[in-house]
Amino acid sequence: MLAGIRRLKFSTTKKTPIFIKKGTVVNHDCKFDADVQVVDGKISKIAPTGRLEPLAGSKIIDATNKFVIPGGIETHSHLQMPFMGTVSQDCFDTGTRATSAGGTTFLLDFIVPKPGESLLKAYEQWRAWADPKVHHDFGLHCCITWWSDQVEREMAELVKLGVVSFKFFLAYKGSLMVTDDEMIRCLERCKELGALSMVHAENGYLIDHLQKKILAAGVTGPEGHYLSRSKDVEAEATHRAIVFANEIGTPLYVVHLMGTEAAEEVIRARQKGCQVFGETLASTLGIDGRHYLDKNWDVAAGAVMSPALSMDPECKVRMMKYLAMGSIHTVGTDNCTFSEAQKRKGINDFTKIPNGCNGLEDRMSVVWNNGVRKGILTPMDFVRVTSTQAAQIFNVYPQKGRIQEGSDADIVVWDPERQHTISAKTHHHAHDHNVFEGMCVTGKSHTTIAAGNVVWENDTFIPHKGQGKYIGRNAFGYPYERSKYLEQERDYSTKIIDRSVNQETPEFQIQ
Ligand code: URP
Ligand code: ZN
Ligand code: ZN
Ligand code: ZN
Repeated sequence: MLAGIRRLKFSTTKKTPIFIKKGTVVNHDCKFDADVQVVDGKISKIAPTGRLEPLAGSKIIDATNKFVIPGGIETHSHLQMPFMGTVSQDCFDTGTRATSAGGTTFLLDFIVPKPGESLLKAYEQWRAWADPKVHHDFGLHCCITWWSDQVEREMAELVKLGVVSFKFFLAYKGSLMVTDDEMIRCLERCKELGALSMVHAENGYLIDHLQKKILAAGVTGPEGHYLSRSKDVEAEATHRAIVFANEIGTPLYVVHLMGTEAAEEVIRARQKGCQVFGETLASTLGIDGRHYLDKNWDVAAGAVMSPALSMDPECKVRMMKYLAMGSIHTVGTDNCTFSEAQKRKGINDFTKIPNGCNGLEDRMSVVWNNGVRKGILTPMDFVRVTSTQAAQIFNVYPQKGRIQEGSDADIVVWDPERQHTISAKTHHHAHDHNVFEGMCVTGKSHTTIAAGNVVWENDTFIPHKGQGKYIGRNAFGYPYERSKYLEQERDYSTKIIDRSVNQETPEFQIQ
């Protein structure tokens, strides 16, 4: 069952054992009072409260009145990503500080090769950026930004290196966008390799056209951003990508669903049996598009991200309900942070505002506050949407995403009553802005343990720079478990009708 994972680097140092006592363990499918022993980065023993003696020399953590949950899994980050003529501020150091402070212990970042660039070269670059800096484990997806025989070959090489999820953009015309033909090739190639196709779904052609029209009408401020990226523009591309993936017979993961319109495309397709998964974001669940109307340009520009936030203030509640019902699956962040000075590149033209915002540190608290505190999610749902389902979809389960003997000691002692006010003044991100600024949330990590290292305790970050490891993943994971069925449906050779014998079979006689 641990076959999903390949650890490419081994630790040689012994870690201090940890004993977590008197907490309530929560997995996506169970909740029970227990003590948990951690030895050398793994969960070695779980027993009902009071039935286990701590191993000699253990660090004792008292989890009375707290939940002991699998460390959060972040499905979608862009750390130190070159984008829109600049580079996102959070690097693998500050990014994994922020996650640790917020109760996340594993993240999947996107390699983004430039169009024309070798995928393998870009992979080496991302590893060189990440390996020396990460405070907890990480994995990588790769973006497909162009197409050639070389890309096709290198996708197979990346799969061998444990990169088994590939994203293409249907937006960002003229830079990262692929054509529909290229999307088809990418889907077919992912299917052959057993890799998961991922899509940024917005209609890049229409956005490009509308941006020009809106600028020509004199709208230059951040409000132009949402006007050019309506929720229908997102829903259209979501629908299109799902149709393509389904006709090809390969699973699809739609990243950053921002509007209920797009989420409902995913839901409708699933009702028809399509193998499609949906991710929404902490920002979608925490704030809404009214930020774009803020009188303060920096606040409005700070929320410029793509797809745009929905103007419907009810969107965040409906998205949370879709998560609760299992209709969509994961909560990522799309953390791609820019300082206010960087955002001001677009002071006279909204199309030049670098797209992206934060989420790594606040994701878990925002979901707890707006989901569990409001009674929409149960604590088990919380674990499912912030950790377990991501681990399953991206094939690191149950080594991650579960409190179980033998699993990695990626554990959060979660304080459900702890309140704090989110602010750029106190966050651990590199940039000077926070899209959740001033939001008072209840629920926070009391202690964060990443592969057996305590990285957050007593409201203090404890650095373990370079001690996180790259986790290579195997292809043909959970999303492919129904692939035999999908394959039968798409085996066109079985669909040939033999007309040589009899023109009219009884079943198909025309009356
Ligand atoms: O605005 C965003 N989302 N920036 C990061 C790049 C992307 O589209 O995911
Ligand atoms: Zn995107
Ligand atoms: Zn549709
Ligand atoms: Zn993204």
